[in-house]
Amino acid sequence: MAFIECETLTHIYLKGTPMETVAVRDVTLRIDQGEFVAIIGPTGSGKSTLVQHFNALLRPTSGTVRVGGVDLSDPKADRKAVRRQVGLLFQYPEHQLFGETVFEDVSFGPRNLGLPPDEVKTRVEEALRSVGLDPAEFGPRSPFSLSGGEMRRVAAAGVLAMSPTVLVLDEPAAGLDPRGKTEMLGHFRALHAQRGITVVLITHSMDEAAALAKRVVVLDRGRVVMDGPAREVFTRADELTAIGLGVPAVTDLVRRLRARGLPVRENVLTVDEAREAIREALGWS
Ligand SMILES: Nc1ncnc2c1ncn2[C@@H]1O[C@H](COP(=O)(O)OP(=O)(O)O)[C@@H](O)[C@H]1O
Ligand SMILES: [Mg+2]
Repeated sequence: MAFIECETLTHIYLKGTPMETVAVRDVTLRIDQGEFVAIIGPTGSGKSTLVQHFNALLRPTSGTVRVGGVDLSDPKADRKAVRRQVGLLFQYPEHQLFGETVFEDVSFGPRNLGLPPDEVKTRVEEALRSVGLDPAEFGPRSPFSLSGGEMRRVAAAGVLAMSPTVLVLDEPAAGLDPRGKTEMLGHFRALHAQRGITVVLITHSMDEAAALAKRVVVLDRGRVVMDGPAREVFTRADELTAIGLGVPAVTDLVRRLRARGLPVRENVLTVDEAREAIREALGWS
């Protein structure tokens, strides 16, 4: 059964003013428990607006959103219950750190749930560990003494400490250096693989989408224009290019080799697959 279910969801900002913007238009989308879905699309295509409906931060202008069986278009819906289940990590979340210590910051959510101090402590420690930070070392430190990548991980730990069943990540690796990116994404990949946590990942990077997600949803000007297995979506290179996106670097490499006459098989998504495909085409395997 679908955990997140949007039915002809439309979101209009500043409706009825000269600044009116239709950010999300007629989106029908179902995301099941346990999926790892990437949402890609050009800047301004409505990605952030769409996912803010998943944890009840925004209300549909029209259409419906159901999350974990709760109909969010109902004004009386239990939004708090939905926010407990769906953790949203904003773009540049380090701007929202506020605690005097890392421990205080990460414990904010669980304390607000009214959990006993022992349970709060366990959750904070577990959350910090799952993003690769040692609680003993980092817990007492000021968030503002940390590197950019560490601050980002503390923010992620704050979301994880709520034990969400769904993690919505809005460009979690944006602005990090390549190593920071790999580490950050590695933590989410592990959480998905080990705990079966549902992940919705917004990303600018086709490489990230290909490496992590089984399913890719493409937005363009507020509409879902493609939705399917990563392998199928990324073979539609011409359509992706037409809306200002691309394909993963290795997919592009293979396309170029084909264009030059090397009969490499298409729909290659990872470096390992590319190596195999090229060896096959050269008759080396
Ligand atoms: N708070 C807001 N008020 C008015 N317009 C907004 C607001 N947030 C986003 N928009 C507009 O809505 C559209 C979709 O934005 P957004 O959801 O942020 O797209 P994306 O995350 O894909 O870059 C854009 O045209 C953007 O300018
Ligand atoms: Mg955005």
